[in-house]
Amino acid sequence: MLYKLKELENDARSTIEGAKDLEELKSIKVQYLGKKGELTGILRSLGSVPAEERPVIGQKANALRQELERAVELKEKSLKDLQRQDIWEEERIDVTLPGRPAAIGQRHPLTMIIDEIKDIFTGLGFQLAYGPDIETDYYNFEALNIPADHPARDMQDSFYITEQYLLRTHTSPVQIRSMEKQAPKLPVRIICLGKVYRRDDDATHSPMFHQCEGLVVDRDITFADLKGTLDLFAREMFGPDQRVRFRPSFFPFTEPSAEVDISCIMCGGKGCRTCSYTGWLEILGSGMVHPRVLEIAGYNPGEVTGFAFGMGIERIAMLKYGIGDLRLFFSNDLRFLKQFS
Ligand code: FA5
Ligand code: MG
Repeated sequence: MLYKLKELENDARSTIEGAKDLEELKSIKVQYLGKKGELTGILRSLGSVPAEERPVIGQKANALRQELERAVELKEKSLKDLQRQDIWEEERIDVTLPGRPAAIGQRHPLTMIIDEIKDIFTGLGFQLAYGPDIETDYYNFEALNIPADHPARDMQDSFYITEQYLLRTHTSPVQIRSMEKQAPKLPVRIICLGKVYRRDDDATHSPMFHQCEGLVVDRDITFADLKGTLDLFAREMFGPDQRVRFRPSFFPFTEPSAEVDISCIMCGGKGCRTCSYTGWLEILGSGMVHPRVLEIAGYNPGEVTGFAFGMGIERIAMLKYGIGDLRLFFSNDLRFLKQFS
């Protein structure tokens, strides 16, 4: 019997040690120490052992039971440690992996054009001026020689807030604000870039768009100065080959007035949807500042003259980048915007 116990001990110890995982260990435990296990069997059969041997064998068997239980416990602990190690290996942070780069933004194509226009005109000695988006009827119309009920108001379909306040329909009110600020000092040489609003909506007209206003007031300013300035601007912006045309027009705040067109780059001047099949795209309105406007803003029209222009920035961007529909600028489609990086 003692021999049998010794054999069982060796057997059990090596099987326990050889257990590959917790599940196997559990069945080994049952195999030796369970209710129908091998060691339990021996303890049960103590009755058939001669009475004088019983205490010794009983004691040995009980001691072995405790030892094997302890061996199972130890093995269980080491298997659990190993398992934890595996999980850690799987989930640990690999500091040698390359990081995920943060997405870097870029300037909106309109902002790029705005910056370019600023560069060209500040290079010519113009200063930056600003005015409010919510404008009074006085600055947007009255002071520009457009009285209430004058048919010229129909050229700019407006968003009124009250009868007195509206979203400015053009940047021309900044002409008045700038002159008022510095009259009678000379020269006035400003540009104003900002948002304007009209009840328009198609491929070349948006309800919110951007304009760049230019104003020069000084002694002996002539239409030739206006032409020279805009010619130079067009060449700087579009290159020396771009064709520009001055077309007689009317604005209540300039006399004479001209609109300036640039040959349509979508069709090369042949005529397409973008240029309404004319071959030309209007980019700005301009003219010699009306004497009444000079007077209203605090200058003596007998002593000084001036020119002014107001151009559509989206139109410039469309021409420069060959974009057929102005609404793309405001649809926030990254596939469109990423092309300008
Ligand atoms: C004006 O707004 C005058 N204030 C321009 C001016 C300034 C004339 C100084 C004389 C002296 P006009 O309504 O034509 O003019 O608009 C000027 C430019 O804005 C147009 O040539 C066009 O390029 C652009 N524009 C007009 N409406 C829209 C619109 N809905 N969407 C996009 N661009 C537009
Ligand atoms: Mg116009």
